[in-house]
Amino acid sequence: MQKLIFPEHFQWGTATASYQIEGAWNADGRGLSIWDVFSHTPGKVKNGDTGDVACDSYHRIDEDVALLQKLGVKVYRFSVAWPRIYPEGTGTLNKPGLDYYHRLVDALLAADIEPFCTLYHWDLPQALQEKGGWDNRETIDHFVHYAETLFQQFNGKIKNWITINEPWCVSILSNYLGAHAPGNQDLQMALDIGHHLLLAHGKTVQRFRQLNMEGQIGIAPNVSWNEPYSNREEDVAAARRMRGACNEWFLDPLFKGSYPDFMVAWYQKMGASVNIQPEDMAIIQQPIDFLGINYYTGSLVTYKQGEGDYDGEDVEEGRERTDIGWNIYPEGFYNVLTWLTEQYGDVPIYITENGACYNDEVQNGKVADTRRIAYLQKHLLQLHRAIASGVNMKGYMTWSLMDNFEWAEGYSKRFGIVHVNFETLVRTPKQSFEWYQQVIAHNRLEV
Ligand code: BGC
Ligand code: BGC
Repeated sequence: MQKLIFPEHFQWGTATASYQIEGAWNADGRGLSIWDVFSHTPGKVKNGDTGDVACDSYHRIDEDVALLQKLGVKVYRFSVAWPRIYPEGTGTLNKPGLDYYHRLVDALLAADIEPFCTLYHWDLPQALQEKGGWDNRETIDHFVHYAETLFQQFNGKIKNWITINEPWCVSILSNYLGAHAPGNQDLQMALDIGHHLLLAHGKTVQRFRQLNMEGQIGIAPNVSWNEPYSNREEDVAAARRMRGACNEWFLDPLFKGSYPDFMVAWYQKMGASVNIQPEDMAIIQQPIDFLGINYYTGSLVTYKQGEGDYDGEDVEEGRERTDIGWNIYPEGFYNVLTWLTEQYGDVPIYITENGACYNDEVQNGKVADTRRIAYLQKHLLQLHRAIASGVNMKGYMTWSLMDNFEWAEGYSKRFGIVHVNFETLVRTPKQSFEWYQQVIAHNRLEV
């Protein structure tokens, strides 16, 4: 057996998001979000599931924080539901909604857990969607105003801020592929939305600096690792497009101040281009304190004309898949992290999400999710390789603390290291919870 030691003060943690766990959809003056509307629209979410109750975390701060404490995490990543703070997106502040996060943050601090707060994890106020949502540039200013409220409210309490979770999902998946709220299918709109999200991020970072806030701020894009099947030019180009749509499209503006030419040209062929105003790119390219990375999967790609949007096809390698059907690709984790550092320099990185869907159930009071342990083990090994290779890695947050509302998949897909019975809301730590507890306690991985 080998023991892989992680750097001193490595920030181990877990992650969740407001709409996926809170429930209490109409409590204490919370406004509607686009996910309330989407999940209540027949046919949008599997089995008609909604986040109305979810894990009921809104009413279970003590129980959830006790779990985190037992796990031994140093950091906890959660998100704030914008419509709890501003039910209409802007205008009147809803004090009771704000109080919920004060109670949560106070409980975390009392338990010696550093809050890592995501400002936007997809629950846009419906009132803003009705005025065009992220397609409307005014939403950017409303977002900055909302962010500023939280900065001022939590200055000195929350020292780690993430502006936007996964701009690819918010733009392409939600507004071109239509799979997530608000469910549009319009590439031009999706590209503009992606741009507006990056601008909202940049302006929020600017405001954070102007206010002289204590702490650090970054963004959390999801990245994928798409590797060419062969070194044939067309395979290389197809893999590059598939990766570029997810990675470079968002990371180049953030770090280089421009969209990648090869993707601009490709989207132009598809009839779409970003509407950029003077100054936009400079705003987007604000220096950030860290990059959050969400990684789940990767693939080998071959060129196939007309396949998908990028003329590329994943090769069936016979790799194992998780219960949501995603390829298990641990080497991609190492590859993407070292690639990021080569491309964008020595930025401090936190893994803000990594984890696996396995639907193991409770049997005799236990959940033997050995496949999740294997997944985490393989990925932590690759993470350790990345650290050994000089990637500036600060911490790792597994997705997720507990089973929750998995967006369009509803409650049919479980990512938690704590099992949640969605009838009784009883939480049962899984075997992976105990395993991760040991990793954290010893700051090492045994392989
Ligand atoms: C060291 C860390 C180092 C890590 C990765 C560990 O053995 O304690 O400082 O970053 O290996 O190389
Ligand atoms: C999202 C999470 C989601 C997870 C698993 C990420 O795309 O940020 O909210 O539950 O992946 O699909």
